[in-house]
Amino acid sequence: MEIGLTGASGFLGRHIIDQAIAGGDKVVAFSRNPRRQIRGCVRTQSFGPGLHLNGLGAVVHLAGESIFGVWTNAKKEHIFRSRVEGTRWIVKAIQGAPDPPKVLVCASAIGIYGDRGEEELTERRTTGAGEFLAEVSEAWEAAAKEATAAGTRVVSVRIALVLGSKGALAAMQPIFRLGLGGRFGKGDQWMSWVHVRDIANIFLYAAKTESLSGPVNGASPNPVRNSEFTRVLGTLLNKPTFFTVPSFLVSTFLPEQSSLVLDSQKVIPEKLLTSGFQFQFPSLNEALHDLLKPKVRPEPSSAAPSET
Ligand SMILES: NC(=O)c1ccc[n+]([C@@H]2O[C@H](COP(=O)([O-])OP(=O)(O)OC[C@H]3O[C@@H](n4cnc5c(N)ncnc54)[C@H](OP(=O)(O)O)[C@@H]3O)[C@@H](O)[C@H]2O)c1
Repeated sequence: MEIGLTGASGFLGRHIIDQAIAGGDKVVAFSRNPRRQIRGCVRTQSFGPGLHLNGLGAVVHLAGESIFGVWTNAKKEHIFRSRVEGTRWIVKAIQGAPDPPKVLVCASAIGIYGDRGEEELTERRTTGAGEFLAEVSEAWEAAAKEATAAGTRVVSVRIALVLGSKGALAAMQPIFRLGLGGRFGKGDQWMSWVHVRDIANIFLYAAKTESLSGPVNGASPNPVRNSEFTRVLGTLLNKPTFFTVPSFLVSTFLPEQSSLVLDSQKVIPEKLLTSGFQFQFPSLNEALHDLLKPKVRPEPSSAAPSET
């Protein structure tokens, strides 16, 4: 299959390209800079209003302004507009194509659920309200859904915290390696995470699995509490994790972004599990061990009983 991929130059894009090629697919990259050569892609096309998608088998849409950095009003406007407007360009191109892609697999985020305590968040649960990331993800999914009118199947992958060589884990590692790692707030909030190779595979699986449509939770089946995440990472790095970052400190200095580390989201990938998707890294210990090797030895399996 020939797959169109926006955000191909980014962190997840790189892994999706590698896995698509390994599976015998071809990837056409879409970038704001169409002169950019992206390793492994058959060509790069322009990502902007008036883009062309005719003849592609599938479109995977990841592009959007990074959520890293301080959320000024201008930054929030970029985060929101880049996702909603970019998705509208895709939908317009699908609607105008004589031979449109059969499926649009669009990124979304588990931030859509908001702060939910102990609730098990399958795709059947309601979404949250009032928080910035929930609003962005709602608008993003609503924009993608418009492509169904053209007969295109639409899947919105609600991505959990992606663990890989870049992103959040890369930001945490230096702090933990200095022995300054610790939990946020009480540490009892649920963290939903996914290994980068599993999330790349989920996007390709969603493109090829016709029974999947609508929202799909892109999270491992074993979310952990923040204190457990901290403990496993500290143990694998052989570093103490005595510190606690008090909630009030995070909320004072980063009032809105505090939701990224303090919100509790126990996400269950019900649709993937029901459809038979196999996770390569279902437990946090296996995922972190894979990502941190060869610097560490695996934690004894008896030490990770609470990851279910
Ligand atoms: N990584 C995670 O933990 C995580 C979790 C939840 C959701 N997600 C979502 O998944 C998607 C991919 O994540 P990622 O980590 O791969 O992101 P990334 O590394 O920041 O890459 C995003 C790509 O989007 C394009 N882009 C950047 N700013 C843009 C803008 N203002 N307007 C339009 N396009 C822009 C860039 O491609 P060009 O420069 O080539 O155009 C870039 O390569 C994102 O939408 C992200 O919000 C990620």
